[in-house]
Amino acid sequence: MVNKITVVGAGNVGATTAQRVAEKELARTVVMVDVVEGIPQGKGLDQWESAPIEGFDSRVIGTNGYDETGGSDIVIITAGIARKPGMSRDDLLNTNAGIVKAVSEQVKRSSPKAIVIVVSNPLDVMCYVAKEVTGFPRQRVLGMAGVLDTARYRSFLAEALDVSVRDIQAMVLGGHGDTMVPLISYTTVSGIPITQLLDRATLDTIVQRARDGGAEIVKHLKTGSAYYAPSSGAVQMAEAIVMDQRRILPCAAWLEGEYGMSGLFLGVPCKLGRNGLEKVIEVELTSAERVALGKSAEAVREPMKAVKL
Ligand code: NAI
Ligand code: 2OP
Repeated sequence: MVNKITVVGAGNVGATTAQRVAEKELARTVVMVDVVEGIPQGKGLDQWESAPIEGFDSRVIGTNGYDETGGSDIVIITAGIARKPGMSRDDLLNTNAGIVKAVSEQVKRSSPKAIVIVVSNPLDVMCYVAKEVTGFPRQRVLGMAGVLDTARYRSFLAEALDVSVRDIQAMVLGGHGDTMVPLISYTTVSGIPITQLLDRATLDTIVQRARDGGAEIVKHLKTGSAYYAPSSGAVQMAEAIVMDQRRILPCAAWLEGEYGMSGLFLGVPCKLGRNGLEKVIEVELTSAERVALGKSAEAVREPMKAVKL
């Protein structure tokens, strides 16, 4: 357990994240911050009142300012607007860049030693905004998307094979968008290569469904986007850091030469521990996967150039 975890944004993703953090007792105090008066206070109090039933001692509080967040060990940024039907993640660019910039300035001031996990979209570009504005080293700014995209891919595979989700090992790399790169060559079921268990056409259908996973939920919900699986993803990363688990998870990390690329955030296998990003793991890719990762990087660089800080 660490002393304090702050979740910025008390909307669907933020509130569910705060609740999961508290239920896992990852921090002594969980602070939820939002610009809307009353919402973080009400949700925080409601969650704290569930503590005697759920049996956790993490104290959840909600606020509209940053005084209570001071000295946070981890800050999870979920502030921003979410996708509506017909909107791409990049449609959120300008609005969310302004929001993430304002939040990052506050984080830099109030929690200068924090590890930041960004969730706001468009994810890879918002990570860049957070890193530029806080000035934190790359070890302390990470983005959550690969865990979610991989979870979607794993759940669809488990369903197709009628096996436990626990036995599906997989990794989705690249940017959090239509160009994400599910690595079929590293997809196994208890060590058995997936290509021995599913034919290519079925695999391709599943890969496409994982790519469209965010839009599929938006289509159902109509007024917002996914939040149960996204909050699980953010909390899995926070847990790996708090517990110094040294887990290898697909996260958006600032590349410094890995995979032949530099100067952008992209989803890659990361070892997460108490310092945040302990290491970017470089794996061999097929030539098709390498090309796909390069295309995905281009799709991240384009909106990055459009952001004014
Ligand atoms: P939401 O609309 O339910 O909540 C967003 C909250 O942010 C609202 O309560 C709003 O008042 C608050 N907010 C706005 N400006 C703020 C500021 N300056 N400071 C503090 N709070 C502020 O949206 P939801 O569903 O929670 O999604 C949040 C973000 O996460 C969106 O950008 C969404 O696209 C993104 N997302 C990213 C995923 C990923 O895989 N990286 C997955 C799911 C969502
Ligand atoms: C998702 O993948 C909208 O990025 C969000 O569900």
